[in-house]
Amino acid sequence: MNTALDRNGSERAGSAQIGLAQAGLEQDVAMQATTLLGAKLQTQGARARLQNHDWPPVHACTTLPEALRAFLALDVVARDALLADMRADADRHGAFVHMSLGEIYAYLFGYRDGVATDAADDALESALLGAKIRLEREFIDHWVGRVDAPVFDSVASAADHLDHLAATNPGVHHSLFHYIEHEAPRAQVEMFLRGEVIRNEVVDDEVALLAFGLQGTQKAVAVANLWDECGRGRLENFHTFWLRRFIGPEPDQWDAFMRLRGENPWFAKITSNTNNMLLTRPAYKQMAYGCFMMFESWVEPHFRAIMGAMDRLGDFDNDRRVYFAAHIAVDPRHSRELSEGLRMQCPPLDTRRLNDVVRGAHLAVAAGTRQYDHWLRYFKHATAHAPDGLQARTPVAGAPVLEME
Ligand SMILES: [Fe+2]
Ligand SMILES: [Fe+2]
Repeated sequence: MNTALDRNGSERAGSAQIGLAQAGLEQDVAMQATTLLGAKLQTQGARARLQNHDWPPVHACTTLPEALRAFLALDVVARDALLADMRADADRHGAFVHMSLGEIYAYLFGYRDGVATDAADDALESALLGAKIRLEREFIDHWVGRVDAPVFDSVASAADHLDHLAATNPGVHHSLFHYIEHEAPRAQVEMFLRGEVIRNEVVDDEVALLAFGLQGTQKAVAVANLWDECGRGRLENFHTFWLRRFIGPEPDQWDAFMRLRGENPWFAKITSNTNNMLLTRPAYKQMAYGCFMMFESWVEPHFRAIMGAMDRLGDFDNDRRVYFAAHIAVDPRHSRELSEGLRMQCPPLDTRRLNDVVRGAHLAVAAGTRQYDHWLRYFKHATAHAPDGLQARTPVAGAPVLEME
């Protein structure tokens, strides 16, 4: 009797468990049928006018810059010799390496400012990819040169170091941002802001590339970041939509932006190129993660300085402020999440990959700080030599816009 009762009891318990498991399964499956998007994709009124412009705000590529075309035509030995020769002139070298890499990354991202993005061109694309690898070697070995990074044997110690580096590296409170906030004339602030729009116009794609090839918690934080970039499904909240608002709704505002983007100096490409180099080389995947941690974490102090400059100069409405104001809120969280994604990664990164994250972070700091050094020198030189604080209205693509003294 007892045995039968026990059996009946355990049968009931067993069938209850099966019932629960079944309900859990149905819940898991049902979740896949609901959408995260709903009606979020609809845009109306003034917002629709902004969304109507093609993005990113670039002209269609007609031809590669002459200097890059000539480089593609050289054999390996001649390319080595040309680059070695350029190194004697730091600005010529930097301009050539970064302008050329910028063209190659534009091609890889596939928008209309890249060559071979309308139709495949096997010969040109083979040459471009070969040049990419050679120019990235030049970037690492000669343009940025030696970057010292400590080595760690535990995730916790590496992550602690990265958090500390993110808060204290020389790019965080670089004097460029003090200058922008307190001294730069309006024309320079406007030029710098255009550079920020150009820098960030396809950051969502960079985050998408970061997710590619990662797994686990690292992938989760990269994808959460991408979901933020894409407005969590709402077109009006795409971070690039805030850049649309910065440019303005009128066609002539877009024409002016496209015209003036030609004045963006070569050194404004350094941080994008650093990111894109690491993101597009499989062996540098974890370096890209470390690089991104650094770039996310200094956004807040930099954008506070930019908002300070807007307050000082006046006449910047909410459409022009929203991108910067929103990132002061969002990017400290992104950098915390990147740190947590590394700490919680399971299985933990092996020592090589872990130290790649650290190396990528130090490379990002070295490269980014050089970009800020260049901007500051450019602006101070311009202030001393031109009444409106600007010089070189129409720089030649591939050439430095500034004769350094
Ligand atoms: Fe963003
Ligand atoms: Fe972010």
